[in-house]
Amino acid sequence: MRPQITVVLLLLLLYYYYYHYYYYYYYYYYYYYYSETDCQCRQMCFVRPACASASFSPRTGSCHLYRRVALRGGLLPDPEQVYHILPGRSGHGEYCSSPGDCLQPGDRCLGYSCQESEHLTCRVLKDLYGVIESGVHWGGVAGVTMPLYCDMVYQEGGWTLLLAAGGATWNTTSALWRPDDENIPDPSRPFSIYKYADIIASSGIINGTDDFYQIDVYDVETISGGTWRVPRTESLLGSSASAYQLTQENGRQYGGWKLSKANPVVPWLASGVDPETFISVSQTPDIKPAEGVLLGAAPGIQKWGGVASSGFVAILIRE
Ligand SMILES: *[C@@H]1O[C@H](CO)[C@@H](O)[C@H](O)[C@H]1NC(C)=O
Ligand SMILES: *[C@@H]1O[C@H](CO)[C@@H](O)[C@H](O)[C@H]1NC(C)=O
Repeated sequence: MRPQITVVLLLLLLYYYYYHYYYYYYYYYYYYYYSETDCQCRQMCFVRPACASASFSPRTGSCHLYRRVALRGGLLPDPEQVYHILPGRSGHGEYCSSPGDCLQPGDRCLGYSCQESEHLTCRVLKDLYGVIESGVHWGGVAGVTMPLYCDMVYQEGGWTLLLAAGGATWNTTSALWRPDDENIPDPSRPFSIYKYADIIASSGIINGTDDFYQIDVYDVETISGGTWRVPRTESLLGSSASAYQLTQENGRQYGGWKLSKANPVVPWLASGVDPETFISVSQTPDIKPAEGVLLGAAPGIQKWGGVASSGFVAILIRE
């Protein structure tokens, strides 16, 4: 054998033992490697049958190979790390980045999680996946993956931001659907996924025993508003006012906002009645200053109980 070939074979043998020894040694943890690029790191995972996922840090060049895929709730967002999954390796409730990642029949990849349901609201993230940090999380509604703003602290957490009026101008289209430009919903910037309000309201994860959802409406600047318990039968997308009144018995108020003279009703789409009001909690949103305008055409006309708010109104749903 020519000496050059012997050297190459020896190197290959060393290469083989080096990787496999360390890889299997760290059975439960991971294999750690330095790689030049993200692509190289993924390749490292790809060539090893036991590797299920890999994370790469472009800053340090560290490439971690894992034998398992992280649980959706357990994976903390780390802007320094890029996380990859080998196709067909994600179990139920585990992280995924495309439909082909999920193993279990019937599972779909929604909001970066392999799950059966076509909804992944903030409440599911809290109750099922144990996510406890407020802020933006990937979720999904009606089979569509989208970033959601979640309040995980107020009253048991699990609140999904439906709408943030944020002092902008609005129309009947944007009132229902106005995703954040940068995919980072925030209660103090214009945002709406209100068209999904009823879908979220009826997506209940607790069977039978809980026939209510909760809504919370508040002025973002003064942190004053109210929280109510609403039967699932009540629509938030109705075009006429509900008769279901929100009272002291089924809710609570906080901060300076007062209930209107007549008790407010479940939020509804008032645009057919008053061209300048899109979402109202008043039974008769006639002319300004109306009682209970949550979202109007112009910024700063939000009023509730006769008290003008700053125009920064947020509507959250817990379901
Ligand atoms: C409604 O408002 C959105 C957001 O400002 C805007 O992009 C859209 O063109 C408006 N639509 C109409 C019909 O005015
Ligand atoms: C909820 O209902 C579904 C379908 O009816 C059922 O498969 C599931 O086991 C129920 N879950 C609980 C916790 O009762």
